[in-house]
Amino acid sequence: MNDWKKAVSYTICSLAFFGLHSNFTTTFGQDEEINAKKLFEYHCATCHGEDGKGTKRGRELKSPNFADPEWQAKKKDEEILNSILNGKNKMPRWTDKLKSEEMHALAKYVRKLAPKKRG
Ligand code: HEC
Repeated sequence: MNDWKKAVSYTICSLAFFGLHSNFTTTFGQDEEINAKKLFEYHCATCHGEDGKGTKRGRELKSPNFADPEWQAKKKDEEILNSILNGKNKMPRWTDKLKSEEMHALAKYVRKLAPKKRG
């Protein structure tokens, strides 16, 4: 490979890396010390999917689609939090596994999976 080609691919790689990285910190950097996105991906995405739409397994268990605005509209904050704390049907309870602040952060995060209305 020519030197200039190396230089170009190196630049593209580092741009991609820093681009992703800065996007990550601006979107989630304000979430105190709890990283709800990470928690969700670790504990919840097996059933709900990283985008909240539900994996094959999740759908088999009848998990809802968090990205559905109708679902978001009819769910109350208390219900979301309560289901995370105490479980609901096939949805496991998390009280023994997660800290209270973590479950609160996840309840908020579930709201963030809704499609944005404007902008
Ligand atoms: C084993 C699969 C599984 C995992 C893991 C899981 N869920 Fe669920 N979840 C479900 C299912 C199934 C439902 C649907 C429950 C119902 O309404 O019958 C559900 C429902 C929910 C609901 C809606 C509750 C309501 O009141 O309708 C929320 C919010 C939720 N899950 C959040 C989470 C969070 C946050 C995590 C990670 C800490 C998580 N889930 C992990 C299977 C799972």
